[in-house]
Amino acid sequence: MPWVNHQIVLASHADGLPRADNFVERTGEIQGCDAGHLVVRNHYLSVDPAQKGWMGTAQNYASARLGEPMRALAVGEVVESLAEGFREGDFVSGWFGWQEYAHVGPEAVQRILEPWCSPIRYALSVYGLNGLTAYIVLSDILLPAEGDTLLVSTAAGGVGSIVGQLASERGARVVGLTGSDDKVALCKSEYGYSAAINYKDADWLKQLAGACPDGIDKYFDMAGGWISDEVIALMNHFGIHAQVGTAAVASWDPVPQAPRRERVLLIKELTQKGFVIFNHQQRYAEAIAHLRDLLGEGKLNFREDIRDGLSAAPAALEELYQGLNRGKLLIRLVDETGKTTH
Ligand SMILES: NC(=O)c1ccc[n+]([C@@H]2O[C@H](COP(=O)([O-])OP(=O)(O)OC[C@H]3O[C@@H](n4cnc5c(N)ncnc54)[C@H](OP(=O)(O)O)[C@@H]3O)[C@@H](O)[C@H]2O)c1
Repeated sequence: MPWVNHQIVLASHADGLPRADNFVERTGEIQGCDAGHLVVRNHYLSVDPAQKGWMGTAQNYASARLGEPMRALAVGEVVESLAEGFREGDFVSGWFGWQEYAHVGPEAVQRILEPWCSPIRYALSVYGLNGLTAYIVLSDILLPAEGDTLLVSTAAGGVGSIVGQLASERGARVVGLTGSDDKVALCKSEYGYSAAINYKDADWLKQLAGACPDGIDKYFDMAGGWISDEVIALMNHFGIHAQVGTAAVASWDPVPQAPRRERVLLIKELTQKGFVIFNHQQRYAEAIAHLRDLLGEGKLNFREDIRDGLSAAPAALEELYQGLNRGKLLIRLVDETGKTTH
């Protein structure tokens, strides 16, 4: 059957911070399901900082295409399937874009959701990029241990909120950097941080030194930019720096000028490692099993910031870069009764 399909389409590249006017709304129609394809009705759309990079023209591992629905992860229900392995009624997560319906091949699907993945939006948050990134970077790169001081930037966000708890579970002293006093309080009260600092305070570096009396051994870096220029200089000998995000860099074109840190790297014999979650799929099952155990035991605090209606997506992405989200940002398209939200 034909499906009327409202979409948020990328209208212009963003080489600085994303703006709502980089997008336009469009109404299309899916005439039917092609052989080997499926049609998914999206229930939740993901809003991720990574979308800024996909919208730009600077070198990246993936990009969004002009004139197409914005590249995004989503979860939804299969409403028709002519693809092997998928049945009508399956709930799936994958690359379905900012639109109501996605007509895709099986390669766009990440997983068919198991019944325990409830509510289904958890496939985009705690069992999605946020939880997976937190677990895998800690387990495979930073290996925080008893007595280590681990610093985390964007500490109160979707990923950072989980990192604080997983790292303190492993015995590390976890210190967070975040952009407001209420987020500092959340880090300490809910997310497992021993200390947290508002990096917008004029004396944040002094506060950081006070919060890390034994220096910084491991750095879970999701900010980069001017924040990391300072932090790297404070790291301990044999420290490990995981570059997971660059939220503090507004644009990579032109590449920003910054203090050179190669001398610190050499003298302190630091290790630096980049990370892209999509290249670590073989680690997802272990990560999800651990997160599921913690959630089941009531030992993992996690927040979602849910906005209603497809039209809310562009402004939500803009707000993410103003630090206005409180937890994982999601757009709800279908409510619990099956009705479309507006
Ligand atoms: N490499 C990977 O595979 C991977 C996977 C997942 C996420 N990430 C990255 O990890 C970071 C966090 O992702 P998330 O999903 O958990 O998002 P999030 O932290 O929930 O939201 C992004 C946060 O970035 C901070 N921010 C915005 N502008 C900033 C600026 N100019 N300087 C410093 N901080 C700024 C804000 O927090 P404050 O109010 O605290 O500033 C904002 O809330 C992002 O950089 C993302 O791209 C990478």
